[in-house]
Amino acid sequence: MKNTEMILRSKSLSKRFGGLTAVDDVSFEVTRLGVTSIIGPNGAGKSTLFNLLSGTFMADSGLVELDDQNITRMSPEGRLSCGMARSFQITNLFFDLSVIDNLRIASQALEPRSNLFLPLSKSTIAMDRANELLEEFGLLECRNQIVGALSHGQQRRLEIAVTLATRPKLLLLDEPTQGMSQGDTQDTAELIKRLGSKITVLLIEHDVDLVMDLSKTVIVMAQGKKLAEGIPSDVRANPLVQTAYFGEELA
Ligand SMILES: Nc1ncnc2c1ncn2[C@@H]1O[C@H](COP(=O)(O)OP(=O)(O)OP(=O)(O)O)[C@@H](O)[C@H]1O
Ligand SMILES: [Mg+2]
Repeated sequence: MKNTEMILRSKSLSKRFGGLTAVDDVSFEVTRLGVTSIIGPNGAGKSTLFNLLSGTFMADSGLVELDDQNITRMSPEGRLSCGMARSFQITNLFFDLSVIDNLRIASQALEPRSNLFLPLSKSTIAMDRANELLEEFGLLECRNQIVGALSHGQQRRLEIAVTLATRPKLLLLDEPTQGMSQGDTQDTAELIKRLGSKITVLLIEHDVDLVMDLSKTVIVMAQGKKLAEGIPSDVRANPLVQTAYFGEELA
């Protein structure tokens, strides 16, 4: 029977780079809808874990399951067509292209296979989706601007829009507020919260207060391992987490 509550499962995932175990026997489950967050100090293995979940890297051992389907060896494209999308910590926008063209390219996968080689201007499904995203993300006024000319906050917002182009059911966001002003961070937090009412969001985030406010569940990583997991207030109060991650910050 299909498990309707659980959308994603990581079972004993591990990844080594030479002598370093970047992700070390990490298991967790993500329940449907809302925001589940992963926090941890620099180098804890958060982005590597995302790479294993999204198929950018193959795990050395362990399993990834999406809606009870084993996707451990599936390509990133395969995972995308199963409804899992991700953003990268370092941007993957086309800086020399316009906002609308970035959205159209990202939406192209919605076209039926027979239309995949159509010129962008003839891809009406992609165009409709791109226009929808422009409006949803408040980017209408910069529709034809070159992405490189946008503010940092607008670029990061566009990045989230791009990841949503294919209407995923699970979205992995790697530090979407990195380098943002406080105002932009707050706006993005609101946006992520709204997204969580429609789809499942798995978020890597450095801003602890933001995470605690947004998330239904928080997973803490340190040195490749899962250190703790639970509702925000429990994680915040966990002495192991206080020592390993928050240090004096919350004392
Ligand atoms: N492609 C790679 N080759 C070799 N080592 C890597 C590679 N990617 C990551 N690492 C190492 O794996 C460890 C975990 O890195 P990772 O980027 O997953 O951490 P992170 O928790 O995302 O850190 P940050 O908060 O700085 O983004 C680090 O020691 C890093 O140097
Ligand atoms: Mg990272």
